This record gives sequence, C-alpha cells and structure tokens, in this order.
Amino acid sequence: MLILSPSILAADFSVLGKQIKEVEAAGAQYLHIDVMDGCFVPSISFGMPVISSIRKITGMIFDVHLMIEEPERYLEEFAAAGADIITFHLEASRKPDDVIRKIHGLNKKAGVSVKPATPIMEMIPYADLMDMLLVMTVEPGFGGQSYIPESTGRIREARRIFDERGLAKDIQVDGGITADNVHVALEAGANVIVAGSAVFKGDIGRNICKMQKAFLDFKR
Ligand code: DX5
Ligand code: ZN
Repeated sequence: MLILSPSILAADFSVLGKQIKEVEAAGAQYLHIDVMDGCFVPSISFGMPVISSIRKITGMIFDVHLMIEEPERYLEEFAAAGADIITFHLEASRKPDDVIRKIHGLNKKAGVSVKPATPIMEMIPYADLMDMLLVMTVEPGFGGQSYIPESTGRIREARRIFDERGLAKDIQVDGGITADNVHVALEAGANVIVAGSAVFKGDIGRNICKMQKAFLDFKR
C-alpha cells in the first residue's frame, strides 16, 4: 500500500491544529513528526509536549522520526506522548537491535533510518526485526532541501535486500519529495512517502490531491 506522511516540520505552528485537520480531511494516512535534538542534527525542532497536545485532536497514525542521539533514552516518553511508529537513526545508537526490541515492547512499530552517506548494507543485520526502513533522501536536519539523486539507487538496493530475504517491509523516503519526482522513489521501491514543503507550502488540500494523483499514475 502507498502511504503519504506529511511532515509537520513545514507547517505553520501558529495554526498547527488547523493544518493537521486539513491534512487528515484530505486523506493522508500518517503524520510525520520530526524530532531534532541539536546534537545528532544541528537544528532543534520540538518534543513530547507538542506530540501529546496534537494527539488529542487527530486519530492519524503518528510517524515519529527521531533525529536524536541515544534514542533509547526517550522511547517510553515518545510512546506515552502518542507515537505509533518510532523511527530512530542507525548512526545514533550503539545497539539498534535492542532499540527495535524496546520499541516493540512498547507495542509500537519500529523504523530504522539511514543518512545519505550510510551504506544501505548496514541495515542488513536488522532487516528482519524492523518494520520500516527510512532511506533519507536529503541530509537530515532541515526541510526544504532538494532530493539527492543518488538516493534512487539506495532505495532500489534496500528493496532488493528485503525481497531476497522474502521480507515485505515498508521503505520510507524523506526529503525533497514532490508530486513531480515522487514516481522516481516509488519506482525504486519506496511505499511510505514523507513530504513537508510539498504538502504545507500553499494549499494543503490541493497539494495532497496532487500527490495522490501521482500515486495513482504510478499504479497504472
Ligand atoms: C528532514 C526531515 C524531513 C523534512 C522533509 O530532516 O526529516 O522530514 O521535514 O521536508 P521536505 O519534504 O520539505 O524536504
Ligand atoms: Zn523526517
């Protein structure tokens, strides 16, 4: 199934609740929530208080992308705040398998993310355990960057690794995705699509409609 996960990093935070309602009404299934600690990435975004307050206004699936060092320190808190999927960076943890098990112990789905310079092969030891692989298609830290073209081969490699092992896992892509280039990621094997600027800049309903049309064109 193809899933759209709008990233609230690109939202207008003065009207965050209203914009989330618009995204939900337009039919997006996930809500992508970027947590940055100013350490794993240079920027700082927001944390648990924001997540628990938006949890009260929507039933969307909360797809929480942790760009933080030692994510194992905060898993319980993100689960309690309302995360449904918790994705952490392979580069940020010394024992990724323990982190995945801990997320599963909290009854949440576990995603593992790789930065553009991390060889895809490094996810192989965890391929079976994870629910989703997030292939970063820009350097994590900021919205509004351009899709890195080398990402396409990396998505393809990840899909091949899963297929060879008979694993039907989700592959998420994040960064620089638009209605005009999303087909490239879909063709390579991605099925969970994050979009920040392409959803929140301009008319949200119209933007989501364009993205859904691109999904349909791909399926044809
Ligand atoms: C970047 C974040 C992304 C970002 C995507 O570090 O992980 O989720 O919000 O934004 P766009 O779609 O604008 O590149
Ligand atoms: Zn993200």
